[in-house]
Amino acid sequence: MKIVVLGAAAGGGLPQWNCGCVNCNDARAGRLRSSGQSSLAVSADGSHWSILNASPDIRQQMQDRPVLHPHGLRGSPVASVLVTNGDIDHIAGLLSLREQTPFDLFATAGIHEVLEGNRIFDALARDKVARRRVALDTPFALQGGLQAMLFAVPGKVPLFMEGETVDTGLIGEQTVGVRLSDGQSTAYYIPGCAHVPDDLLDRLSDADHLLFDGTLWDDDEMIRSGTGIKTGRRMGHIPISGDDGSLLRLAGLTAGKTYIHINNTNPVWREDSAERAEVARQGWQVAHDGLEIVL
Ligand code: MLT
Ligand code: MN
Ligand code: ZN
Repeated sequence: MKIVVLGAAAGGGLPQWNCGCVNCNDARAGRLRSSGQSSLAVSADGSHWSILNASPDIRQQMQDRPVLHPHGLRGSPVASVLVTNGDIDHIAGLLSLREQTPFDLFATAGIHEVLEGNRIFDALARDKVARRRVALDTPFALQGGLQAMLFAVPGKVPLFMEGETVDTGLIGEQTVGVRLSDGQSTAYYIPGCAHVPDDLLDRLSDADHLLFDGTLWDDDEMIRSGTGIKTGRRMGHIPISGDDGSLLRLAGLTAGKTYIHINNTNPVWREDSAERAEVARQGWQVAHDGLEIVL
């Protein structure tokens, strides 16, 4: 199985259009590698690819990866798209995948409802793009020899659908992780997760590789940096650091580990930071656009 990171950054990307934090400024100046928004491409046979989350940057992300270029006059090696939640960084790229090329669009019924509630997604012609509703914890086949399964992780409704009160520990169809298997190796992709319950730890015990929510280093990072007013947990993202952060919670996992969906404020972007050294010491790599993981 081959996993290619199309976008390592969280919503907004690195740099984000309206952000003058040190990381965004350094990325603009070429001192830090820029990064597109949250997305992976996966394949078991090298010719049928699945896109996990369709980011607003998908057009450039596909241009940058020759394996995703079209064959012939019209057509695409992209056989399917899977969506793990309804946030803009994971669904807006669907709009760039209009133009009459067929693919399967896999998501839970709850996430399909979000897409159905937004008529702009009708731009994906129903006779070309098959909207496949998949039940939680039920394996299904992706073209090219991969088996996928969606499972609930703690999260919330999409940001643009939040009401006055928000349950940030919702466990259901709104926020899911993906298990991928080619019959030999198993990978997990969890770009959004509010906390790590024990049953998630148990589930991950067969992982060869885990790509996990690395949105923020500190829960209050956006507040302290003056870039936002919410904690990570309020946004549905567990921090990396701290007593119940992901570094400690996932410390016992012997799989390969990659942080992904990283907010532009996160110090782990910087190769010379103490935070980057700390995650490396704990066995984690930090994703970047174009990173390939071969299992
Ligand atoms: C998130 O992961 O919290 C979202 O991408 C937020 C957003 O839609 O900007
Ligand atoms: Mn996001
Ligand atoms: Zn920034």
